[in-house]
Amino acid sequence: MTRHFLVDDDLTPAEQAEVLELALAMKADPYGYDTFAGPQSVAVLFDKPSTRTRVSFEAGIAELKGHPMIIDAKASQLGRGESIADTARVLDRQVGAIVWRTGDQSRIDEMAAHSTVPVVNALTDQFHPCQLLADLLTIKERFGDVAGRTLTYYGDGANNMAASYLVACATAGMHVRIAAPASLQPAPDVVARAEKIAEEQGVTILITDHAEAAAIGADVLATDTWVSMGQEEGAEERLADLEPFRIDSRILSLAKRDAAVLHCLPAYRGKEVTAEVLDGPQSMIWDEAENRRHAQKAILHWLVTASAPPQESETDDSTPDED
Ligand code: CP
Ligand code: NVA
Repeated sequence: MTRHFLVDDDLTPAEQAEVLELALAMKADPYGYDTFAGPQSVAVLFDKPSTRTRVSFEAGIAELKGHPMIIDAKASQLGRGESIADTARVLDRQVGAIVWRTGDQSRIDEMAAHSTVPVVNALTDQFHPCQLLADLLTIKERFGDVAGRTLTYYGDGANNMAASYLVACATAGMHVRIAAPASLQPAPDVVARAEKIAEEQGVTILITDHAEAAAIGADVLATDTWVSMGQEEGAEERLADLEPFRIDSRILSLAKRDAAVLHCLPAYRGKEVTAEVLDGPQSMIWDEAENRRHAQKAILHWLVTASAPPQESETDDSTPDED
């Protein structure tokens, strides 16, 4: 069965832990894995702008001995209305995996439904699971573990990063708090999905509009832009609601003394986070950005390996003898 990575909990807790361990091993030995040796190509398509996702996939696929086929999807026939299903059927005859940054989650679900090779979500309007693998890797490196830690996300609680923090961190056995204005809360179905995982993992989910209380005792404070791609129109109206949810030195001082600060980037200093915090000693943003490459190499390798048909053993005697 072909495995895909479309939402953070497409990996079970055990599988997510395995991918993070693999990412650590790959970081220690960047050229030691021949996943796409040949080289086989990997299609990386973009419907939206990108810096980190593009360069980390391109560099990472090259390190896996593959050929990164970077495609501006708007300049392809997909951008002119060729169906997603037909695009999937064409791409999977050429490449070993498909990575796509697009809009609605239903689009990547459809790509996966028609692809015989693994499909990876490189950001949709609803989720950003590759970013979360990088964030979890950064937390694991910093603290030695992820389970039992508490992460508070500040800002636009209705966006893709908030949703992925909820689902991915619950899967990792972390307590998750979303500190967001009442006007920008996570979708109820996402909260329910995270709560179910959290219950199984014995951790808690808190959605609050109390910025100060949400910081107390947190190991990690995370944030994201207040205006996501595609939401530029009418953005000014939401900014006033978001003002109390900026990570500044006062909020940071309420978290644990050794708390780490994360931001998926691009950042807008003075909006969702002050320059003092973002460029300060507790910020881990450059490790986090680097870890995109290691985490994405690990998920690609893991998916390709998990999707491979089982090898027939040479000593397999299950085939009946010919008379
Ligand atoms: N964090 C992130 O996905 O960055 P890009 O939009 O630059 O890819
Ligand atoms: N929430 C942001 C993340 C950018 C990496 C966006 O979707 O624009």
